[in-house]
Amino acid sequence: MSDAIESILQEDRKFVPPAEFTANALISSEEQYQQMWQLGKDDPEKFWGDLAKEELEWFQPFDSVMEGDMPDTKWFQGGKINASYQCLDQHLTTWRKNKAALIWEGEPGETRTLTYQELHREVCKFASVLDQLGVEKGDRVTIYMPMIPELAIAMLACARVGATHSIIFGGFSADAISDRNNDAQSKLVITADGGWRRGKEIALKSTVDESLEKSSSVEKVVVVRRTGGDIEMVPDRDYWWHDLMENASADREATPLDSEHPLFILYTSGSTGKPKGVLHTTAGYMLGTKMSSKWVFDYKDEDTYWCTADIGWVTGHSYIIYGPLANGVTSVMYEGAPNWPDEGRFWEVVEKYRVNIFYTAPTAIRAFIKWGDQWPQKYDLSSLRLLGSVGEPINPEAWMWYHKLIGGERCPIVDTWWQTETGGIMISPLPGVTPAKPGSCTKPLPGVVPAIVNEEGKELEANQGGLLVMTQPWPHMLRTLYGDHERFIETYFSKFDGKYYFAGDGARKDEDGYYWIMGRVDDVLNVSGHRLSTMEIESALVSHDLVAEAAVVGYPHDLKGEGICCFVIPKGDIPIDEVKNTLIKHVRHQIGAIATPDQIRFTPALPKTRSGKIMRRLLKDIAAGRENNQDTSTLEDQSILEKLRQEG
Ligand code: PRX
Repeated sequence: MSDAIESILQEDRKFVPPAEFTANALISSEEQYQQMWQLGKDDPEKFWGDLAKEELEWFQPFDSVMEGDMPDTKWFQGGKINASYQCLDQHLTTWRKNKAALIWEGEPGETRTLTYQELHREVCKFASVLDQLGVEKGDRVTIYMPMIPELAIAMLACARVGATHSIIFGGFSADAISDRNNDAQSKLVITADGGWRRGKEIALKSTVDESLEKSSSVEKVVVVRRTGGDIEMVPDRDYWWHDLMENASADREATPLDSEHPLFILYTSGSTGKPKGVLHTTAGYMLGTKMSSKWVFDYKDEDTYWCTADIGWVTGHSYIIYGPLANGVTSVMYEGAPNWPDEGRFWEVVEKYRVNIFYTAPTAIRAFIKWGDQWPQKYDLSSLRLLGSVGEPINPEAWMWYHKLIGGERCPIVDTWWQTETGGIMISPLPGVTPAKPGSCTKPLPGVVPAIVNEEGKELEANQGGLLVMTQPWPHMLRTLYGDHERFIETYFSKFDGKYYFAGDGARKDEDGYYWIMGRVDDVLNVSGHRLSTMEIESALVSHDLVAEAAVVGYPHDLKGEGICCFVIPKGDIPIDEVKNTLIKHVRHQIGAIATPDQIRFTPALPKTRSGKIMRRLLKDIAAGRENNQDTSTLEDQSILEKLRQEG
C-alpha cells in the first residue's frame, strides 16, 4: 500500500466551515443540501427542469427535461440555446456589462482585462471571422493555443456560431494534433506563433505545420501573434488573427442551437492507445457547469476567482470559462509557470488581484511545499476566502499545508472529484455546509447519485473499497466518444449492463457517507493531474526501431502523484544510457512533453503468464520498489523477477 493511501486511511480530522462563511453561503445548511439532493435523486426531471428554466436563457423553451435512460439520455429537447450567449450577452443588460470577465496575466508580466462587454465584442468579431472563413454550424475547429485571451475568444466564438471546438493542450506533439484533427475531421486550426513558459518560447505554429502534413481535413489556419517568434505563413492557408479581426463586424448574433448541439470535443486518455474524443453538448453542459460552480465556489459578485488550470484540460473549459462566465464572475487567467520568474509567482498574482477563490491541483500544492513556506509567506494572501483542489487525491499532509499556509486556517477547502467525461464537479464539499475531512472529496452534489459497487454491481457496505459508479444520468455527462458510440457504451456502461456509468476509479464510502477516491482501476495513469494511458506510451515506445517490446506502469511519485516507469525489451544488446535519452525524446515527440518517462528500465524479458499476458501488478511493485507478495505461480519464467529488480 502506498504511503499516501495509508495516511488517508488513518485520517479522522474534521474541519467545520467557519460560521461567517456559512452565514453568507448560497447553500448554508445541511437540511438545505439534503432537500436539494433528495429532490435530485427522487425527481431529477423537476430538479433539473426547474433549474434549467431559472438559470439558463432560452431562445426557445424546451419541451421535455430528459428523455431516455442512460447511456443515451437526451436533455432539454426542443429548446434552443447558445453557450456564448449564456456567458456573455445575458450580462450586457445588467450592471455586469462593465465588470471584468477575464483578468489575464502573461508570463512576462503584461496584463489585460476584458469586461463582459469587451469580451462580447471580441467574440462577436471573431465569430464574424469564422463566418468569413467558411466555418459553419456543426464544423469542428481545433484550437492549439497558449493561455492568452484569444483562446477564450476563439472558443466562445466557436460556440457562438455553433462550431464544435476541440482544444488541444499546448504540451501535445504534432502527431497528437494530427491524430485529433483526423478523428474530429477539423476544418480549421487556431493557434499562435508560440507561448511563454519559464521564460522560454514554446513554439506552437511550427508544431501545427508539422501536424498538417498528416491532417487532410484542415483547410485553414489562424495564427495569433504572441511571442513574435519566427514562423512560416503558408499563403492561402495561414492567416494572421489581427489581419482578420481588423475589419470584422462586431455585429454577430449568437446562433440559436438545439440543446443537444455538440459544444466541444475534448480528447482524453483511456485504457487503449487511442485517445477518446469526449463529446459534450450545449444546454446540459451549461447548466451543469453553471450550477456546480455556483454551489461549490459559492460565488459572490465582488469575487475575483482564479482557477490555475490550462484551458487545454477540462478544468479550464468548465471552470475558467463556461461555469464562471455563465455566473458573471471575474475569472483570472494566467499564461505561464508557477515558478517564473520565481517560486512566489502564484502568490504574487493572488496579492496583486486580491484573489478570493483559488482553485488548483494537488501536484502544484506538493511543488509549493517543496519550494518552501517562505514563498507564500512573502505575500499578502488575506483576500482568499475559499480554496479548491482537483485532479487527483490530495494527501492529508498537502491538505493541511494548503489549509494553514495558503488558507490561513480560515478558508474552507473544496476537494472536487470529477472527470473530463462528467463535464463538471460531481463530488465535493459545499463550502458553507460540509465539514471537510482531509483526503476525502466528501459528498455528491445535488443531482448526482453515486454508489460504490463490487465487480458484480452489488452496492457495498460502508468502508468497503469498490468501484465508483453513477446510478442516474446528469445533464452535463458526456454524450458519446466522437465517432465511436460503441466504444462509449463499452467503456462506461457495459461493465454493469448499461445500468450504471462506470467512472474507472476505485473508492470507498465511510460511515458518514463521505467518498474517498483511491485512484484509477484501469490502465490510466494520473501524472501531475493529467491523464495518460499506459498503452499510449507503450505504442509510442514500440514505434521506435530499437524497441522490441515495452510495458509501462505508474509508481508513486512525490511531486507528480504518479511517475511513468517503462520496462523496455531492446532489439539486440542492452543499450547504454544514451539510448534511454533517445527513447525519452521519442516518447515526447510522439505524444508530448507531458508523457516524458521518468524511468526507462531495460530488460531481456517481461513477466508474463503462461497465456502471454504481461503481469502488470508485478511490474508496478518493482517500479515502486515494493516487496511483492502476490501470487507469482502463473509466471512463466520465475527468474525474470530477480533480473528486473537488479536492473532497477
Ligand atoms: O482518477 C480521478 C482523478 O482524475 C480522473 C479524471 O481525470 P480527468 O478526466 O483528466 O479530469 C481531471 C480534472 C477533473 C478521475 O477519474 N481525480 C480528479 N479529481 C479528483 C481525482 N481523484 C481524487 N480526488 C479528486 N478530487
